[in-house]
Amino acid sequence: MTTTKLNVDALVDAGNGRVTSAIYTDPAIYELEMERIFGRCWLFLAHESQIPKAGDFFNTYMGEDPIVVVRQKDGSIKAFLNQCRHRSMRVSHADSGNTRAFTCPYHGWSYGVDGALIEVPLEPRAYPQGLCKEKWGLLEVTRVETYKGLVFGNWDATAPDLRTYMGDIAWYLDGVLDRREGGTEIIGGVQKWVIDCNWKFPAEQFASDQYHALFSHASAVEVLGAKSGDANKALGSGQTARPVWETAKDAVQYGEDGHGSGFFFTEKPDANVWVDGEVSQYFRDTYSEAEARLGKVRALRLAGHNNMFPTLSWLNGTATLRVWHPRGPHQVEVWAFCIADKNAPDDVKAAFERSATRAFGPAGFLEQDDSENWAEVQKVLRGHRAKKTRLCLEMGLHGERVREDGVPGITNYIFSETAARGMYRRWADLLMSESWEEVNERTSAYKQEVLK
Ligand code: FES
Ligand SMILES: [Fe+2]
Repeated sequence: MTTTKLNVDALVDAGNGRVTSAIYTDPAIYELEMERIFGRCWLFLAHESQIPKAGDFFNTYMGEDPIVVVRQKDGSIKAFLNQCRHRSMRVSHADSGNTRAFTCPYHGWSYGVDGALIEVPLEPRAYPQGLCKEKWGLLEVTRVETYKGLVFGNWDATAPDLRTYMGDIAWYLDGVLDRREGGTEIIGGVQKWVIDCNWKFPAEQFASDQYHALFSHASAVEVLGAKSGDANKALGSGQTARPVWETAKDAVQYGEDGHGSGFFFTEKPDANVWVDGEVSQYFRDTYSEAEARLGKVRALRLAGHNNMFPTLSWLNGTATLRVWHPRGPHQVEVWAFCIADKNAPDDVKAAFERSATRAFGPAGFLEQDDSENWAEVQKVLRGHRAKKTRLCLEMGLHGERVREDGVPGITNYIFSETAARGMYRRWADLLMSESWEEVNERTSAYKQEVLK
């Protein structure tokens, strides 16, 4: 442990804006991440709308552990390790559904929706000595808490509660979850695909990187911009095809406690240029309700990026919410959900789903730019020398400040790496700390250093 401890500290120098590439490739670091980050942080499991009735279940992951999330008879939500206690088979195989019991396909042990082992085939003959079924229920995820419809799980009984853990990222997340009465729901199914890159590349980009959009997405933006007449026709009247970074007056990046977000201040409730006309019209039609609930800044915020540490990302106005499930140091499995206001009309929900898939589905015209970058970077990092190289995270170094206009947290100009530096500092703090107390001490010390 001591060696890894020293290594981790040496690999991340957030104060000077440097990380060493090995953090994206080292198998020992990856194992430590599974224990100390995915074993201790709050991880997104499901949206409540996916499991409305008793017995409804949804299968997901916490790190690499398969997890089944189940609505209980009393309306509460529990989550279990999807692992039979007999020989480790998954007891639930469907992506989602409704059930009264989970019956293991291997030897037929059966578990109730509360995780209790209720039925063992041939029990009197196979276990003449007796089997204490109470001891062999499914392992329950230690803590499950919800935030405005999103369900999170945590294995660590000593972790801060979900709301405390979220800190100011909750303010940014409310911009999606709390626009309208009735909250949100997941539209359609989950799109899942694998990218050959470390989970931290996409998480970091959604936390901290507006900068790439100007260059990496230049061709997509050019297509929409150059054909603005056609695009306007396709996108709906009143829609401008100019990207927000060309029209916005000011912009902010937030980065604290490992979380990150970035957006531009705008004056009109204009949606992203790639969404359908029905979506843009819907945002205009519902603007006053959103403004009454969230205030002007967040109601107008229909573009921008976000990551709640470690792996829950979303894009405002685009309706994509995704989780980066780690699959070894060199791979990530993306699970993309389309999230929209529950009270939106059905044709608008369909337009949200279409728009999110077109831009950010597995073959989405913006998604492809991003995943190509991450996979290429990961290929470079297979090089022995490349793994040892220090990378530059100095953008906007020492530009951090606390704003006075109500936008909370440690902030900087949007074109900075405040959130990335904060994310890697928090990451290293978690890997190095034995307890949450220690994590929090380290995080507070870093905040003081950043703001001095
Ligand atoms: S592995 Fe599940 S019953 Fe044997
Ligand atoms: Fe991108």
